[in-house]
Amino acid sequence: MYQDMTALITGASSGLGEAFARQLAAQGANLVLVARSEDTLNRLAETLRGETRVQITVLPTDLSSAAEVDRLIAEIQNRALRIDILINNAGLGVFENFLDTQLTEQVEQVDVNVRALIALTHAFAPGMVEMHRGGVINIASTAAFQPLAGAAVYAASKAFVLFFSEALSLELDKTGVTVTAACPGPVATRFFARMNPRLQAREMDQPAHVVSDILRGFEQRKRVVYPGKLTNRLGTWGARFLPRNMILRLAVATTKKLNQN
Ligand SMILES: NC(=O)c1ccc[n+]([C@@H]2O[C@H](COP(=O)([O-])OP(=O)(O)OC[C@H]3O[C@@H](n4cnc5c(N)ncnc54)[C@H](OP(=O)(O)O)[C@@H]3O)[C@@H](O)[C@H]2O)c1
Repeated sequence: MYQDMTALITGASSGLGEAFARQLAAQGANLVLVARSEDTLNRLAETLRGETRVQITVLPTDLSSAAEVDRLIAEIQNRALRIDILINNAGLGVFENFLDTQLTEQVEQVDVNVRALIALTHAFAPGMVEMHRGGVINIASTAAFQPLAGAAVYAASKAFVLFFSEALSLELDKTGVTVTAACPGPVATRFFARMNPRLQAREMDQPAHVVSDILRGFEQRKRVVYPGKLTNRLGTWGARFLPRNMILRLAVATTKKLNQN
């Protein structure tokens, strides 16, 4: 499936992004790895070059900067790299009450989770449409299904990712290009580094398992994938069936579970 394809993975230096890189390289995809941590990306690229025969390009970028996102797009075009699969995975979450935080970190979430995601999709999806193949995987979250007091901007940014991806998927329905939104629940990654989660890492899903579920869903051309534990998906049903006021209050327990600070 991935032989002779090139996948651009954002947030490839850690967690889900690193797992995407490992699994896609093992299946023969060439990679373009993006994140801020240049040394970590280079180390990962070296390891994968040692284990596989795929071509790997490392392009360190701060995706919170619109100018750097433009530079990344231009660099990929200058190098004539054809992106068959775009994995918009880079993201961050601020799990604190809105007014207790700095505006800069809230805006950073919107810039990375939302702005960079639509800019890269707008840049690379047209090439896929032209070739009638490939696709975009956008990492949303179970946070996309209801407002989260205590992570207000994060949940809103993931609702954006889910709604945007579903709509784009229908717009590209007959083009041969797949758009998949993935909605993981808690995964044991560096995502929680600044938080104090009540959940232990071993109670969370593991990145490799989550990524193989997402890739399977993408290969089946699913519009939305719920990787990992079934309870994650069941949890999203509350927002469909319970009154809005009730789900808003119940969801506070989730943010408290993920950050007890
Ligand atoms: N872990 C979870 O429980 C969970 C659940 C649902 C959804 N998600 C989503 O999954 C995605 C991956 O997160 P993860 O769990 O793998 O977390 P992670 O281990 O913290 O990885 C986040 C990645 O995003 C990159 N990144 C962050 N800010 C960036 C910036 N300004 N520019 C470029 N890259 C940036 C980081 O790289 P650098 O620091 O090197 O830049 C890192 O590679 C995120 O979108 C997250 O919202 C996670």
